[in-house]
Amino acid sequence: MARFERPLVMGHKGMLGSQLYLILRKLYPATIGLDIEEIDITDQKQVEDVLSHFRPDVIINCAAYTRVDDCESNRELAFRVNGEGPRYLAQVAARLNARLVHMSTDYIFDGRKRSPYLEEDQPRPISVYGESKLRGDEAVRETLNDYLLVRTSWLFGVKGPNFVYAILSQAREGKTLKVVNDQVGSPTYAVDLARTIVKLLELNCQGIINFCNYGYCSWFDFARAILRLKGMSQVEVQPITSQQLNCPARRPRFSVLSLSRIKSVLGAYPRPWEAALAELLSIAN
Ligand SMILES: NC(=O)c1ccc[n+]([C@@H]2O[C@H](COP(=O)([O-])OP(=O)(O)OC[C@H]3O[C@@H](n4cnc5c(N)ncnc54)[C@H](OP(=O)(O)O)[C@@H]3O)[C@@H](O)[C@H]2O)c1
Repeated sequence: MARFERPLVMGHKGMLGSQLYLILRKLYPATIGLDIEEIDITDQKQVEDVLSHFRPDVIINCAAYTRVDDCESNRELAFRVNGEGPRYLAQVAARLNARLVHMSTDYIFDGRKRSPYLEEDQPRPISVYGESKLRGDEAVRETLNDYLLVRTSWLFGVKGPNFVYAILSQAREGKTLKVVNDQVGSPTYAVDLARTIVKLLELNCQGIINFCNYGYCSWFDFARAILRLKGMSQVEVQPITSQQLNCPARRPRFSVLSLSRIKSVLGAYPRPWEAALAELLSIAN
């Protein structure tokens, strides 16, 4: 098992980062958590100074500009946070001899494939968010020989805002829900992803690896499952197209990630997304 003592979670107040920080703190009491209030990853000098002060032996970057639609009108900021920030982190990781885990996304793909995306498939982003995230992936790969790039999709978790809470709150307001039915992907529970990242670190896994919960659905199916599991099946959900929703950013129509590599590394598939969703809904209001 690979040894490390001082992991640092960048973005430890976000949906994934908060979960990861919680899990790591129990296993590795010296775990450090930083977020935008303590450090801005777009400021190269600050990244160097703060990380040199803490001297982590593992850096896990969960910080990102994740508001996909806002990225369209804030291209420069998206590229600074999602593209340049990871480069600065990778440079400091190289200097400190620390391992770097960086988070990637299914939105680097155009969604035209008809079978699950493999780690080595050619990225072709169709949004500013996807382009900026791809720039970050490339920066990490150019800077470091050893890195772990974990590619995930459709995150949901205890910490909001996320799709699960959005559906529940709209349903409680008595609204008729309209949810897109022509984008298909794999929902991923932040708890399952965070636990897996820790395992992959302990196994010293390197390169690119996909992780999402098993199975796939459309956002419409996902919304219906949320309501069913919460005993609110009577709430009406209307399927609509992406064109009808007319969001600023385009999203891939099909962005299911292949789980072959994670299965071979861990010896089993992740649990199905419905089981993970049921667990979240049993603890969330
Ligand atoms: N959410 C998804 O569905 C999804 C899907 C696939 C991949 N991913 C990737 O998974 C990772 C984690 O996503 P998430 O949903 O957990 O993200 P999140 O909840 O948005 O958390 C990101 C954190 O980073 C912080 N941050 C933003 N700009 C920063 C900066 N310049 N310097 C330092 N910190 C900064 C954010 O602060 P503010 O909240 O104040 O901005 C937030 O606390 C990201 O790399 C994301 O691209 C997410």
